[in-house]
Amino acid sequence: MCIPPIYKIHIYDKILFIKQQGRVTKMKPINIALDGPAAAGKSTIAKRVAAKLSMIYVDTGAMYRAITYKYLQLNKTEDFSSLVQSSVLSLTYDEEKGQRVILDNQDVTDYLRENDVTNHVSYVASKEPVRTFAVEKQQELAEKKGIVMDGRDIGTVVLPEAELKVYMIASVEERAIRRQKDNELRGIQSNVEQLKQEISDRDQYDMNREISPLKKAEDAITIDTTGMSIEDVTNEILNLVSKL
Ligand code: C5P
Repeated sequence: MCIPPIYKIHIYDKILFIKQQGRVTKMKPINIALDGPAAAGKSTIAKRVAAKLSMIYVDTGAMYRAITYKYLQLNKTEDFSSLVQSSVLSLTYDEEKGQRVILDNQDVTDYLRENDVTNHVSYVASKEPVRTFAVEKQQELAEKKGIVMDGRDIGTVVLPEAELKVYMIASVEERAIRRQKDNELRGIQSNVEQLKQEISDRDQYDMNREISPLKKAEDAITIDTTGMSIEDVTNEILNLVSKL
C-alpha cells in the first residue's frame, strides 16, 4: 500500500507545523500510544515516528525486561514487592544507541533480549508490584508530552488520554519471520516454528493476565502491518498525526 505524501511536517522550536493540502496547521504537543502483540514491529515503527516528529521514544517492554533480568539474578525470587523496592530503574538516551536502560547503576540494555529474559518476562510483568512500579515511571516520563510509547497497556492504562492511540497487529507467521531476521542480524540462530510458538504463548499470557491485559483501547486505530513495509506503516501513522 502506498500512501501519498499529502502532508509535510516541520518542527520549529519544538512546535510541530503540518502542511497539508496547502494549509499550515500548528500542532499542540502530543503523546502517541502504540500497543500490540509481541514482535508486531512496534519498536521499529515507534522509533521512526519519534525521529520524524522530534519526539522521544519510550520502550516500556525494556522496563519489564530489566526487572526480569534482576528477578533471574535473584534466583527467581517470588517477593516482587522487595524486588521492585530495591530497584533503581531509569532510562537514558544515547545519540547513537538510543534508549539505554540503567538498573541499579548498571547499563543492562544489552542483556534484555536474551532468551532467558524473553521467556520469563510475561510472568514477571503480570505481577502487581512490578506493574505499579513500571506504570508510575512511564506516566512520569510522558507528563510533559512529546513521547511515543510502545507496549501492551499504554492506550488502556498508562496513557488513556494519549492524543493518538494505535494498535498494531500482524499475522503470527510474519511476526516470527521478522523476529528471525532480527535475530540473524544479531548473530543468533533461530527456528521459525519455535519462534511462532514462543510469540503465541507470550501473547496468550499477556492477553489473559488479570492486571492490564493486552487489549486494544476502544478509541485506538488498528493497523494490520502484515505485508506492509516499515515506510508504509510509518507514513500511515504520520498521516494520522497530521489529522489530529
Ligand atoms: O515489547 P516487549 O516484547 O519487549 O515486551 C516484553 C514483555 O513485557 C511483554 O511480552 C509483556 O509481558 C510485557 N509488557 C507489558 N506491558 C508493557 C510492555 C511490555 O506487560 N507496556
